Amino acid sequence: MKIFLSPPHMTGRELEYIEEVFRSNYIAPVGEYLERFEDAVRTYTGTSHALALCNGTAGIHLALRLLGVEEGDRVGVSNFTFVASLSPILYQRAEPILIDCDESWQIDLNLVEESFKKERPKVLIVTHLYGGIAQMEELSSLCDRYGVELVEDGAEALGTLYRGRHSGTFGAFGIYSFNGNKLLTTGGGGILVGRDERLMARARLLASQAKEPHYPWYEHRTYGYNYRLSNVLAAIGVAQMEVVEERVAKKREIFGWYREKLGEIADFMPELPGSRINRWLTTLIFKELDPLQVYERLKEKGIESRPLWKPMSLQPAFRDLRCYSRGVSRRLFEKGLCLPSGTQLEREEVEWVCHSILS
Ligand SMILES: Cc1ncc(COP(=O)(O)O)c(C=O)c1O
Repeated sequence: MKIFLSPPHMTGRELEYIEEVFRSNYIAPVGEYLERFEDAVRTYTGTSHALALCNGTAGIHLALRLLGVEEGDRVGVSNFTFVASLSPILYQRAEPILIDCDESWQIDLNLVEESFKKERPKVLIVTHLYGGIAQMEELSSLCDRYGVELVEDGAEALGTLYRGRHSGTFGAFGIYSFNGNKLLTTGGGGILVGRDERLMARARLLASQAKEPHYPWYEHRTYGYNYRLSNVLAAIGVAQMEVVEERVAKKREIFGWYREKLGEIADFMPELPGSRINRWLTTLIFKELDPLQVYERLKEKGIESRPLWKPMSLQPAFRDLRCYSRGVSRRLFEKGLCLPSGTQLEREEVEWVCHSILS
């Protein structure tokens, strides 16, 4: 492979900060960089509280636990998503209810309402797909009206805005992923954000094996998880957060280059009015080309692409789950592709990808 889908993009400051961590010997368990990383995300997204975690999936799991999701509860979740939006529901032995997207590629608000009426879920987990975002004010008010708590899976959507407000800040909790292929990376990592001070303090406790403070010994009143991020990785995150807006701008520029060259043969993921999406990956559906053929042709040329997420309802593991759908994600999956979108890409490289597709 010569052109990857979305490889890490370091700024150069990461090593400097890691050296500082080593000099201080705060390799573990916590340290100053964890606080700095949390502060950077908190300030950037305008949320009240942020908790750095070993990955984004852990954040979704903590959110469900904090919202009291347990065995027998129903949790609505985007059908057109990566599996990590759904699996934490199963960790809690609750029942996922799948909700498909509409032509915007984001969750279908009519289906959300229909599922709320019939299923009465406790929580809805909405994925901001490929860095896009649904009409969040409408979605939030729908959740309020039906008494459903909202959790935002913003793993792919750091830097995405809806009416000037950051993805992840509309619901009770939001998460961002700092996995290797995301807009920014710490190698592996995630952040949970939330408004409620008491719940976020509880999240911090649960993420550290539920060790009660103020005791000389380890005192536990409940069970927790080993979900904290290391100070070493947080140092990478601090350097990455310094360039977050630059990275969003570059992703959007790359999207523009693709649209210019491929606009006649494909339709791209829409950007809804009022939003500024981060274009984490440039994603499209071909009008006529077979995406798997394109995938193979690109692979031969050393170019990495990937089909769109296979909807959860089509996964062998989840076929039996109840799903509210008009079949949109199935069609997108069958016609769509993710194109290389790494922020180091030069215009000539994108043109080479486009030329390879067009030829
Ligand atoms: C939509 C979505 N949700 C959740 C995750 C999980 O994030 P992490 O890998 O940090 O656990 C990812 C990506 O990895 C994702 O794309």
